[in-house]
Amino acid sequence: MFDLLLTDEQKMLQQMVHDFAVNEIEPVASENERNHKFPREIIEKAGELGLMGIAYPVEYGGSGMDYVSYMLAIEEISRYCASTGVIISAHSSLTCDPIYRFGTEEQKQKYLPDMLSGKKIGAFSLTESGAGSDAGATKTTAKLVGDKWILNGSKIFATNGAEADVFVLLASTDPESKTRGVTGFIVDANTPGYSIGKVERKLGIRSSSTTEIILDNVELPKEAMLGNLNEGFKMAMITLDGGRLGIAAQALGIARASFEDALKYSREREQFGKPINSFQAIQWMIADMRVRYEASWLLTWRATKMKDAGEAYSTYSAMAKLDASETAMFCANKAIQVHGGYGYTEDFNVERYYRDAKITELYEGTSEIQRLVISRHFIVNG
Ligand code: CAA
Repeated sequence: MFDLLLTDEQKMLQQMVHDFAVNEIEPVASENERNHKFPREIIEKAGELGLMGIAYPVEYGGSGMDYVSYMLAIEEISRYCASTGVIISAHSSLTCDPIYRFGTEEQKQKYLPDMLSGKKIGAFSLTESGAGSDAGATKTTAKLVGDKWILNGSKIFATNGAEADVFVLLASTDPESKTRGVTGFIVDANTPGYSIGKVERKLGIRSSSTTEIILDNVELPKEAMLGNLNEGFKMAMITLDGGRLGIAAQALGIARASFEDALKYSREREQFGKPINSFQAIQWMIADMRVRYEASWLLTWRATKMKDAGEAYSTYSAMAKLDASETAMFCANKAIQVHGGYGYTEDFNVERYYRDAKITELYEGTSEIQRLVISRHFIVNG
């Protein structure tokens, strides 16, 4: 697909990930999801294949490829299991990225080789009960006492929460200054005072872990600070620009799954003596799904190429995520419609796609926040 726009290296990676997903992920995806089972073995295999560090330099243990390659991999994996897609995306774009981009050389050497090879899983923790869309309203505090940071508070909705070894989290270091008083920290999961609270039961992406994190007088060495003091909010926003592309790719995977399953079913299912794909109502749904998917793919590819080229891509990342997530919802809804009553049962995967699609309109910034980011850009810059 989209052969003209991809390099030979990108196509090879795409094929390799496709084979991995079909052979290893698809056979267990529905059962894992139904049982809320984190796919630990799959993540280990993904690590062996270099998929936990695709767009990172070889010197730190990454695969040395570009972000387009990473996006192709997330789409391909999410085509078969959106939970696995977000596990890898939250690890790679939200946790490895800020360590690579803002970490000291010591921090990179300490964390990246194990994370990029999948030996350690990462989680990113920004959200709190009172700081969702208003991400700068963080109440978790970090105070420097002598030469130690002391962290107190709680975070919610951390993807990979119960499974992660390394967390990048944001805390307030100057509460008066709101977004200019937030700082990033790297926290090892085994640090005393650090624990997992509520484990969420979710509508979809049930194989992924989503948890509360409790910080009770967590003592960190000075070197655990990530980036500069009070510059953590910007760091989080820059991180989310890349993360939102990962979610766009996840949404594309769900949209494609919906399209492909609907197409197949429409060939096989007969009513009134003929396959239902001979009816115009079904044909139009097939056409609309494909058009939406192709358009979202191109917008996501464009935003990703901008990132790879080093251009300012924040607005385009928001556009890609907004559009791809709405396409995923649209396609999953139509896929159920094509399947009729059967689509509402667990006998077919489309009900899973529908449940999984919804989260792409919520996490890493709701659709309303993406619209705010996009409109602000054009209103300010024309
Ligand atoms: N890149 C660089 N800097 C940025 C930036 C970006 N993309 N976006 C904002 N900034 C800078 C601004 O320039 C500003 O800088 P100054 O202090 O120098 O002026 C500063 O950050 C504050 O920006 P705003 O004034 O725009 O801040 P705001 O309070 O109005 O908030 C917002 C902006 C867009 C609403 C932001 O809060 C936001 O994106 N909210 C959504 C949060 C979100 O996506 N959460 C998801 C959490 S992760 C997750 O989902 C879990 C998971 O594991 C998957």
